[in-house]
Amino acid sequence: MSLSATRLAELVGSEPFRSPAYRDVTDRLRVLIVDGRLTDGTRLPSERELATALGLSRTTTTRVYAELRDASLLESRQGSGSVVRVPFRDSAVSNLIVDPDSPNDLPLTHSAASAPRGLASFFARAAERLPGILATTGYLPDGLPELREAIADHHTSDGLATTPDQIIVTCGAMGAINLAAQTFFRPGTRSIVEGVSFPHAYEALRAAGTRLSPLPLAGDPWDPTALKDALGRSGHAATYFIPDFHNPTGAVMSDADRGAWASLLRRHDVIPIADETLRPVNLDGDALPPPFATYDPRTITVGSLSKAFWGGLRIGWARVPEKRLMAMLQTRMSIDLGASAFDQLVGSDLLRDGLDIARAARVETRQARDHLLTELSRALPDVAATRPAGGMSLWLTFPKPVSTRLVARASQFGLLLTPGPRFLAQSGGERNLRLPFTHAVDVLSDAVARLAEAYEALDADRGEPRSSSSLDLIA
Ligand SMILES: Cc1ncc(COP(=O)(O)O)c(C=O)c1O
Repeated sequence: MSLSATRLAELVGSEPFRSPAYRDVTDRLRVLIVDGRLTDGTRLPSERELATALGLSRTTTTRVYAELRDASLLESRQGSGSVVRVPFRDSAVSNLIVDPDSPNDLPLTHSAASAPRGLASFFARAAERLPGILATTGYLPDGLPELREAIADHHTSDGLATTPDQIIVTCGAMGAINLAAQTFFRPGTRSIVEGVSFPHAYEALRAAGTRLSPLPLAGDPWDPTALKDALGRSGHAATYFIPDFHNPTGAVMSDADRGAWASLLRRHDVIPIADETLRPVNLDGDALPPPFATYDPRTITVGSLSKAFWGGLRIGWARVPEKRLMAMLQTRMSIDLGASAFDQLVGSDLLRDGLDIARAARVETRQARDHLLTELSRALPDVAATRPAGGMSLWLTFPKPVSTRLVARASQFGLLLTPGPRFLAQSGGERNLRLPFTHAVDVLSDAVARLAEAYEALDADRGEPRSSSSLDLIA
């Protein structure tokens, strides 16, 4: 894929460059490569074209490309231009900005916690039951029967009557999103998504050949009128959305919006794909509206053990209406033939007997959320933060569009973050930042201190006072 100079300049941002400009532009491009907005193999415009688009000298952009080449992030060949390269070693640790071996780095790029206390004993317990599985082939395209039963019971006790044969166990929620996307999207179809969402879901949908129709950013993210307008444009096969403790905003879709969405989607014959990955992370314990599938039984519900227990389990699932089951299972056979049998043993024990572990983890996560909010209001009083009743991250709004520059600056203080634009299906998001609270409180205090330093440094770079006169709600 080639990127025009105008588009790259847009991504780099129009905020004045701090001196020396080559370093600032290099930092901004690094962030774009790290967070996946510039993917491996993308062909960049020539140094001359980029210089013109950015209003900088050719010497500056030549230096920028040279710095990126030195960092092994760019490959330039005579006659074929410069191509983005994401070095495997670095991408494996999700950290291209600063030395990944530095013990002082704080990576806040993932909204996920380490395994909760007590999880290891469930692996030991599953190992004892392993001989029963070893006597089979271990291929479980729809999933381990006892796990499917435990998942069905979990949905039923949440108010959504479910039978085990409606469950397809997948490798994480990502496996279920990909499975649904590959089953229901054809090149040329469109899918409606929230304007702000989980970026890997956008990627999965796009990879299945569908074009995204993002809903508007302002106001209610699930405004039924906006959905109605989007549905008025033809070609939509499905919609992917996160109704419970949305990632990254933490918002919860109201009962009224659920009802309105269900009737609109049914009328237009568009399949709802409701991602409930974060529904179990109910930090305040407030009653949630019923699961989306109770409003529209055609819903494909995506679930996961990653957030209630641990991402390393790689156990997720799709809860599928009977009529869609065979199509999804057939697709599944060309993807991975099933999730790990051992992890499924662990997962079924966890769903039956591990709820105390999940409860204790939620208490810690709630304390971490409250601590992060207190630290932020003290250190960065002009930054607005959501106070989500569940989920794992705050969504910050800055008075000015600084996100990508701030992330680049924070990396110099060893704080690694994902900038707001990464969560948008369209341009924007430069006023926003996702800040996960999936770390111990002392780590979060350190993170806020570094963020505040980086924020101060931005002001010093520009020599301007901050203004809080133009706060946006979301992006
Ligand atoms: C909304 C949402 N869906 C899916 C996932 C991926 O979950 P899993 O680890 O189960 O693949 C995440 C992870 O952060 C998420 O936030």
